Amino acid sequence: MSSQIDHLLDETRQFPPSEEFVARSVSSPALYESAAADREAFWATQSRELLEWHKPFTQVLDWSTPPFAKWFGDGELNVAYNCLDRHVEAGNGDRVALHWEGEPGDSRSITYAELTEEVKRVANVLEGLGIGHGDRVAIYLPMIPEAVASMLAVARVGAIHSVVFGGFSADSLRSRIDDAGAKLVITADGGYRKGRVSALKPAVDQALADRGDGEQQTVEHVLVVKRGENEVEWEEGRDLWWHEVVPAASPEHTAEAFPAENPLFILYTSGTTGKPKGILHTSGGYLTQAAYSHKYVFDLHPETDVYWCTADIGWITGHSYVAYGPLANGATQVIYEGTPDAPHPGRWWEIIEKYKVSIFYTAPTAIRSFMKIGRSVPAKFDLSSLRLLGSVGEPINPEAWIWYRDVIGAGKTPIVDTWWQTETGAIMVSALPGVTATKPGSAQVPLPGISIDVVDESGSEVGNGNGGLLVVTEPWPSMLRGIWGDPERFTETYWEKFEKQGYYFAGDGARLDQDGDLWLLGRVDDVMNVSGHRLSTAEIESSLVAHEATAEAAVVGAADETTGQAVVAFVIIKESYLSAHDPAGLAQQLRLWVGEQIGAIARPRDVYIVGELPKTRSGKIMRRLLRDVAEGREVGDTTTLADTAVMSIISAQVK
Ligand code: WTA
Repeated sequence: MSSQIDHLLDETRQFPPSEEFVARSVSSPALYESAAADREAFWATQSRELLEWHKPFTQVLDWSTPPFAKWFGDGELNVAYNCLDRHVEAGNGDRVALHWEGEPGDSRSITYAELTEEVKRVANVLEGLGIGHGDRVAIYLPMIPEAVASMLAVARVGAIHSVVFGGFSADSLRSRIDDAGAKLVITADGGYRKGRVSALKPAVDQALADRGDGEQQTVEHVLVVKRGENEVEWEEGRDLWWHEVVPAASPEHTAEAFPAENPLFILYTSGTTGKPKGILHTSGGYLTQAAYSHKYVFDLHPETDVYWCTADIGWITGHSYVAYGPLANGATQVIYEGTPDAPHPGRWWEIIEKYKVSIFYTAPTAIRSFMKIGRSVPAKFDLSSLRLLGSVGEPINPEAWIWYRDVIGAGKTPIVDTWWQTETGAIMVSALPGVTATKPGSAQVPLPGISIDVVDESGSEVGNGNGGLLVVTEPWPSMLRGIWGDPERFTETYWEKFEKQGYYFAGDGARLDQDGDLWLLGRVDDVMNVSGHRLSTAEIESSLVAHEATAEAAVVGAADETTGQAVVAFVIIKESYLSAHDPAGLAQQLRLWVGEQIGAIARPRDVYIVGELPKTRSGKIMRRLLRDVAEGREVGDTTTLADTAVMSIISAQVK
């Protein structure tokens, strides 16, 4: 692809960190210098500084059989010990590890000493159930402290967890349990979502039910946390209540050291085929980069900061920036069980006020939905404790970035836009808040120690001012080590495209601006080709949401007889506008607006005004379904949508 993304919104604003921020910042330009001088030595230093190794490593990177890397290969450590015991041993046992807020308003604050003891008990329960080194444990829990404790207990005994997001169906759970061959499932009766208990145990029962196909069931036990008051079915001998077995277990448990490359977890993510990929991460390298990135990207001062990442543990962000990074660094964090709008639309801001959150990390989708409701809701709360904001998961358009900074960050907090993937394990591209002058909409620069480039189809650098494909050019500590049970798919998906160069292909389009800053342009599957011009869906969406009438927008490339592909936009209009303007006029205005902003080539062929967009439970827009509508086809598989009814409404609105 001679990828020249034709236009990028002209965003020239820059926000250097304040002097006050720089003075207290944990990072400095020296980080970049030492990483550039000797990358491997840099990672070795980070790992030694941030972690405690039971057996120190002498080798840093073994890349002798690419793409299978070994980091710190001859070292040994225990991941849970690093996240818990050592903080207690260092005298910080009384520090709060988790401020947990339940959706109905119940709450618990758990110190490092308490969490350590709980995890030791759970580890003893696991061992009593025959779970040990290399066994797989599925975790299907709401956002409750037991979820974090379960992950750490599994890690402590050297087993492998596979967290399955609580919003997934029984079928998805079953296929993940089967693929990993899990011996144990940890679940709950349910969890609170939007004011009621959403049941989990029945899905586990259904997933484990005999289908009469003679298949061998691998699950031996189900450990059940009681969170709600709902009735559950019980299978004697298989099912155990957490509140009966955990408090009865011994609080003594010695953490054994495991090799650096011991598998830590499998996390399933969707690929281009229907079968989810079990992304495999290991211990020493993963924990090094999770802790490193958490410390420097979020400028963590563990004694004083209160950190909150809104991600669910069912996603990679919940693994690296709820469970592992913050706890390895001895941080105090908030975790919240429910939805942002329950029982009122200011719930998140209320939590920030209550716990005096200083570092806040969330997704652009959430920010845009708050924009839609308006600034009067956050204005009712005291958000003055916030000093740093983060964004992850999709490109953040400059308008949302500025709103985030102005309305949530009082016009002064730095914003770090962090690019990474389930596969990369930890943040790869981001500003460092005490060093980088931030630019709204740009993820900016690779972290010290990370090598990123933008290349064309042949693997040649495109250079500043040009667009192409994002690649990682050197191995990194928290890189995926494979796809569970499918080494060929691992090689094919990520390494074959640039085999000659040995680059990791991320699947994202990106552009380097004149300063060399990175702008993410969405998945390359979402890049459109209109009359031979390459256009990014993300770019046109950004233009659409920059219009004052627009609340949200999704753009797809639909097959077109004349132009190859045509741009089709689905737009949600702000309520105040909808009442005062006729929809046909607004649609036409938006077409012209995009034409003005980007160029005539980008002007959408169709703009459909809709009430909702089809989103997965993690908030990603399913453009595939919109493409079906735009191309007049029957809408495909909607089972992974948060709200499966939404597509019939959109189809009706489009007609
Ligand atoms: C997208 C989430 C733009 C990207 C951590 C990537 C982003 C995919 C950003 C991975 C960002 C993530 N700017 N795009 N800051 N962060 N993405 O595996 O397309 O759920 O490939 O990991 O999200 O999604 P995943």
